[in-house]
Amino acid sequence: MESPFFLLTVLLLLSSSAAVESKPGASNDLVRSSCVNASYPSLCFRTLSSYSGPANTPRDLAQAAVKVSLSRARKVSTFLRTRVTGKGKRERVALSDCVEQISESMEELSKTLRELKHLRGETFGFQMSNAQTWVSAALTNEDTCLDGFEGVDGNVKSDVKRKITNVAKVTSNALYMINRLNETHS
Ligand SMILES: *[C@@H]1O[C@H](CO)[C@@H](O)[C@H](O)[C@H]1NC(C)=O
Ligand SMILES: *[C@@H]1O[C@H](CO)[C@@H](O)[C@H](O)[C@H]1NC(C)=O
Repeated sequence: MESPFFLLTVLLLLSSSAAVESKPGASNDLVRSSCVNASYPSLCFRTLSSYSGPANTPRDLAQAAVKVSLSRARKVSTFLRTRVTGKGKRERVALSDCVEQISESMEELSKTLRELKHLRGETFGFQMSNAQTWVSAALTNEDTCLDGFEGVDGNVKSDVKRKITNVAKVTSNALYMINRLNETHS
């Protein structure tokens, strides 16, 4: 026969661990409803629900989405730099163009993040329009990088394509989150 005290302890432990587990889920409803119409909903949900910073408002989510995009672009950039000494000439050219395009993309995403961190009521519309312009430009740079590999044979091509495609998808989701922030504001 277990003592009532033991049972109570077990119950308390169970309920406190449940509380801890459900805590990140608190904002999951917002993430889910915000991602449902994104360009890549499941990728959106996966990246934003595992995001470690605040994710409680459309503004948080727009910032988080841009941060995710920036961090993936940064990783890809490091990868590209280590592969730029590829064998074929066309592959080398495509890679070094890509390094430049991704670095521009990173600059545009950084500018966007700064803008989103300093949003003010009286300049909101102008700032949103800047953010939209810069994220679109970042996306264009990523697409241009991908196009550069058309007709290139080489063993890094499929790796690069996969990684850049992923960056372009999270960037496209970031653009969606910015549009959403703009819509929920008005
Ligand atoms: C998603 O899109 C559908 C169809 O356009 C619309 O009815 C719904 O309200 C949208 N949901 C959100 C959360 O944006
Ligand atoms: C933001 O929303 C307003 C009002 O709906 C719209 O006029 C404007 O074009 C939008 N701006 C951007 C950058 O989407």
